[in-house]
Amino acid sequence: MTNSAAPRAIPVILDVDTGVDDALAILFALAHPGINVLGISCVAGNASLERVVENTLRILDVADAPYIPVAAGARRPLLEPARSAAHVHGEGGLGTLQLPPTDRRAEPISSVELMRKLIVASPHPVTLVGLAPQTNLALLLRQYPDVVSKIERIVFMGGSTTVGNATAVAEFNVWHDPEAAAIVLDSGVPTFMYGLDVFNQVAIPEHVTTALMHSDSDLAHVVGQLLGNRIALGSGRNADYSGLIGDAGALCALVDPGALETAMLPLRVQLSGYGRGQTIVDKRSHPGEDIVHGLVGEWEAAEVALDVDVDRYVHLFLDTLGLGSALALSR
Ligand code: RIB
Ligand code: CA
Repeated sequence: MTNSAAPRAIPVILDVDTGVDDALAILFALAHPGINVLGISCVAGNASLERVVENTLRILDVADAPYIPVAAGARRPLLEPARSAAHVHGEGGLGTLQLPPTDRRAEPISSVELMRKLIVASPHPVTLVGLAPQTNLALLLRQYPDVVSKIERIVFMGGSTTVGNATAVAEFNVWHDPEAAAIVLDSGVPTFMYGLDVFNQVAIPEHVTTALMHSDSDLAHVVGQLLGNRIALGSGRNADYSGLIGDAGALCALVDPGALETAMLPLRVQLSGYGRGQTIVDKRSHPGEDIVHGLVGEWEAAEVALDVDVDRYVHLFLDTLGLGSALALSR
């Protein structure tokens, strides 16, 4: 007998640049019963498009996932050249983690075509989860604006209301393709920004990661290896160990939004000067001279994550992956 009380799993399409923390996000999304991964779209970012696709397919093997369509999208931003983040994610994109080759293959269609096909076929509006430069999302919205009515919202890891990581003020995903981020924000689709303000907080304690790395569970060992890789910190800390769950936090936000402090705030992407790629979030409680004197137009508003209950997401992440015992064992 089906449990009619069980809430329907959220139909999602992930857009990734796998990437150490994209890998953690994919593992979490596949493991959480409240998330139904319809497909995965790949874009160049942390690594080349080819590496991102291969890493994504191999992570599906780690999760022992059923068939999930994966497609290759943009190999560079709309205007900027591709600039990998090998200094953070390693040349292969998965840090020190080496995974065996996979028999899985990407779909013979582009990311945009796959996303459109899945959105149109879905009986319920689909949530797009952007964990990478938003080039694919922008191309989808420009090529097929008709899909907007069937998109529930876009939850994206990106941006910051304070410190940057790619630059002093810009976060990598938005900085990598600022025009794409501006197009997404301007699309009329409700957007949720999971930015560095919360991204930089949710970290697994080092002793837990050490316990995972010494576990005899393959999954624990993979997750430990990924957590043990350093993800560039935007908060100025230069610790070698970060333990950040990174992109996986945006999936935690999907299933447990109550752990976040959020606000609907005017938001725009800076497209020029040193601040190019910065997400300027207007947190003022009253209009300033710029608005009073008509110097700026109406900004789009997005729901912005401002703070997070770190412990709650640490437990959610580990428990969802069946690794919660590592917390207890390693105290
Ligand atoms: O700034 C962090 C973001 O950039 C994460 O999505 C990471 O994977 C990289 O894509
Ligand atoms: Ca990413």
